[in-house]
Amino acid sequence: EDTRVKRITETITAHPDFPKPGILFRDIFSVLAEPSVFRDLTDVLTERARAARPAPDVVVGLESRGFLFGTPLALALKIPFVPVRKKGKLPGELKQVSFTLEYGSDVFEAQVGNIKAGQKVLIVDDLLATGGSMKAACDLVTSMGATVSLCLVCIELGDLKGKEKLRHPFDTIVKY
Ligand code: PRP
Ligand code: HPA
Repeated sequence: EDTRVKRITETITAHPDFPKPGILFRDIFSVLAEPSVFRDLTDVLTERARAARPAPDVVVGLESRGFLFGTPLALALKIPFVPVRKKGKLPGELKQVSFTLEYGSDVFEAQVGNIKAGQKVLIVDDLLATGGSMKAACDLVTSMGATVSLCLVCIELGDLKGKEKLRHPFDTIVKY
């Protein structure tokens, strides 16, 4: 795994002062532009997911960049993929959770019935920053009677201490 993680780390580009002065933006799309590195990242995510206990029944991906990694992961694990989206994008009966951002607040939604009581859920996103999005997704999954098996991301920004917000197992492929 080490050579693959090294290649993934070397491929992720960093953009100073984007989107605001003082922010060093890590761009996961640089990995998707290199098919063999995207392959490695998907494989390493799949291996980490297979190690999760209890074993997940469902993959939940967070809009929008979480969809890029959650869908190939669900296919590899042969389990369902379920999206968590920002308010107003999903049809049908929904469960909601509100959460605070750096400025203001937002709402995540998931479709009732796609996540069932008692299921074990793997939540996937591209990146953990403050942890607000991942924490909200955990609360949403838990409110549906399911259990969070693992919170899995490609990139953790360690300085922001997002991991400390989470009350469930967490894993990352790359940490800055
Ligand atoms: C970004 C990123 C994570 C979240 C991390 O998503 O993809 O989902 O922010 O930040 P946090 O840990 O501080 O909550 P964004 O809301 O920009 O949406 P996008 O994936 O649609 O670009
Ligand atoms: N990269 C991508 N998304 C982000 C970042 C970043 O560095 N910080 C917060 N969201």
